[in-house]
Amino acid sequence: MKKDYEKQIQKLLKKMTLEEKVGQLQQCGPSLVGAFEVSFEELLDMMFDGRISQEEFDKLMGTAEQDFHEEDLRAGRVGSYNGIGDADTVNRLQKIAVEETRLGIPLLFGYDVIHGFRTVTPIPLAESCAWEPALWEKTARVAAEEATAAGVHLTFAPMVDVAKDARWGRVSEGAGEDALLNSAYGAAKVKGFQGDDLAKEDAMAACVKHFVAYGAGEAGRDYNRVDMSMQRLWEEYMPPYQACIEAGARAVMPAFNDLNGVPCTVNSWLLRDVLREKWQFDGLVISDSNAIAECVAHGIAADKREAAKQAVIAGMDMDMSSNSYIEHLKELVESSEVEETVLDEAVGDVLRIKFELGLFDNPYRTDKEREQRTMLKPEYRALAREAAGKSIVLLKNENSILPLASGTRIGVFGSLAADKGQMTGAWAIGANPDDCVSLTEALEARKISYRYSADSADMQKTAEESDVLVAVLGEMKEESGEAASRAEITLPPEQLAMVRELAATGKPVIAVLFNGRPLAISQLDKTVPAIVEAWHLGVEAGNAVLDVLLGDVNPSGKLTTTFPAATGQCPMYYAHTNTGRPGGKSKFTSKYLDAPVEPLYPFGYGLSYTSYSYKELSIAKLEGALGVTVTVRNTGEKAGDEIVQCYVQTPAAKRVRPVRELKAFAKVTLKPGEEKAVTLKIPYDSLGYYDWDMKWTPYEGKLKVYAGGNVKDTIEGEIQLS
Ligand code: GLC
Repeated sequence: MKKDYEKQIQKLLKKMTLEEKVGQLQQCGPSLVGAFEVSFEELLDMMFDGRISQEEFDKLMGTAEQDFHEEDLRAGRVGSYNGIGDADTVNRLQKIAVEETRLGIPLLFGYDVIHGFRTVTPIPLAESCAWEPALWEKTARVAAEEATAAGVHLTFAPMVDVAKDARWGRVSEGAGEDALLNSAYGAAKVKGFQGDDLAKEDAMAACVKHFVAYGAGEAGRDYNRVDMSMQRLWEEYMPPYQACIEAGARAVMPAFNDLNGVPCTVNSWLLRDVLREKWQFDGLVISDSNAIAECVAHGIAADKREAAKQAVIAGMDMDMSSNSYIEHLKELVESSEVEETVLDEAVGDVLRIKFELGLFDNPYRTDKEREQRTMLKPEYRALAREAAGKSIVLLKNENSILPLASGTRIGVFGSLAADKGQMTGAWAIGANPDDCVSLTEALEARKISYRYSADSADMQKTAEESDVLVAVLGEMKEESGEAASRAEITLPPEQLAMVRELAATGKPVIAVLFNGRPLAISQLDKTVPAIVEAWHLGVEAGNAVLDVLLGDVNPSGKLTTTFPAATGQCPMYYAHTNTGRPGGKSKFTSKYLDAPVEPLYPFGYGLSYTSYSYKELSIAKLEGALGVTVTVRNTGEKAGDEIVQCYVQTPAAKRVRPVRELKAFAKVTLKPGEEKAVTLKIPYDSLGYYDWDMKWTPYEGKLKVYAGGNVKDTIEGEIQLS
């Protein structure tokens, strides 16, 4: 039961000066200044303009002192910091806030703990392929234990932006293209981060982001406009944020993008009507980095003063590092352009989360000793390895070439095989790449003899001396994540050339992919008999990949994003509508002249070292939900985990609806020959939709139900809903 701090909040507000109130809304990042006469921004411009080289820039950065704005802090002009992840610095700044400011209000420390802090776990897109909420919660708990030991109070996670366009670099940071999966993923992460009592020293407040529909940026280009019907917004993009708030998330970060012309940062419909009124959210709303100031660039505010005014009136509580509030809010209130009650509401939201975190009673939640003994515990690494193994998706395995028989002479090719630094993926800012295990290191640790060739120089000789050729391909971690959209998502030509050269030897080639997004790998698929999708798996990447290659782990991961056959198909996703002329053989149907209609690998797809069959689908009308039961059998020789998926189609709605919608899933473990009847529940209200007039409409009529191991290979049934 959440405690009520309203009395303490009102009492404190009465004591605060206008400047102290505005100070609570200021979040600083430690900026790199102080070592040179020009500002950090000017230095960046000088580098981009070529006036200084990258090396000169890096050298200057290396000598820069971090500026923590201590004088502003002492003056009560800082309420929070972003990006500080060590106990000593956190405690040093906290001491100034508590002992040297007039009211001693403690600081809130935020950090991007997206997929682990020091024990980096698989990127969210990878981990989502485990379809396992219990696992997602466990890895979030470990992240919270490490991050809070380093002084973090709030993480800017989970990111639950539904992403249907693989060109967008931040598809790596969420749970893929489906609203139900992002909802389940986000809720599990919130519970894992926050635990059962936010005042506990290892509890970390969750900040769900980026509200709303950041993943729907036009053309997959980051920060781009989002323009869609309200029906689509509410049916396909809103649910995960709501699920996270219902799970108890104590903060929300509005997205950089505009929504139908009004930037989320200053969108009062979004931040007040939906978030506060409809969803009754009483937590903190914190801007994305510099986002308030960027409303000037958006073209909705003439200057930062206007942006500050619009943002606070729209319901934005805290300003992350744009300085719009600290520069203008006091004067806006003094001139009555902003009511002081509006300011008090925002300050109240900041104070509330600080009370809930117990910071007034216990501002120093950690110390160096706890930090050092907490990082990278063996049990954390073990969990990271389990999560990595469950995130791997076996995309192809012709003639069961995998798992490798013991004694197979393994040739390994490609620089990513030995590049541990790439294994963390995007948004692993607290990580030390040296903590990661590369594939070659995993082979050495297990004393498996192998031959390695990082480039073409000795490739032929290495291939001659090997039985199986493991080609390690994919993306550098900088090629996904923020500001990393790609217009072409095929493999680089040099990687494809290497694969072709290896295939020409006649030896079987196994492709291992390290990447942060779906890739258009039709060429690769035509060239090799086996493909292992290994994403960016974190500290245990090499061990987890080897566990799968050797069969110590039977791969069970299933795609949560569609793999297009060609980049030009993007955005490509399973829950599409049928159109009046579904793509087919005849000319006048919805298709491309130069690309297939179908994806290369569909949503929910993933192979195993065993096989499964589905039979006997039945549907029962239960209290509040449909019960869909299907019998799943392990028809192979190995035990395995099968992710059973249940989809529906609603062909009698008042608007055209997707040809499939995921409505339930479950993971079952089956021994060889074992079969289980699996029952999945579909709540009746999850079948509703919005009609043309945005009226929520329960579905009535024929409902088609599908169950299987991916969105394509299913058995079906139907039921009449009246
Ligand atoms: C970034 C990201 C956001 C992150 C924030 C703080 O620009 O958009 O996801 O949490 O800045 O680092």
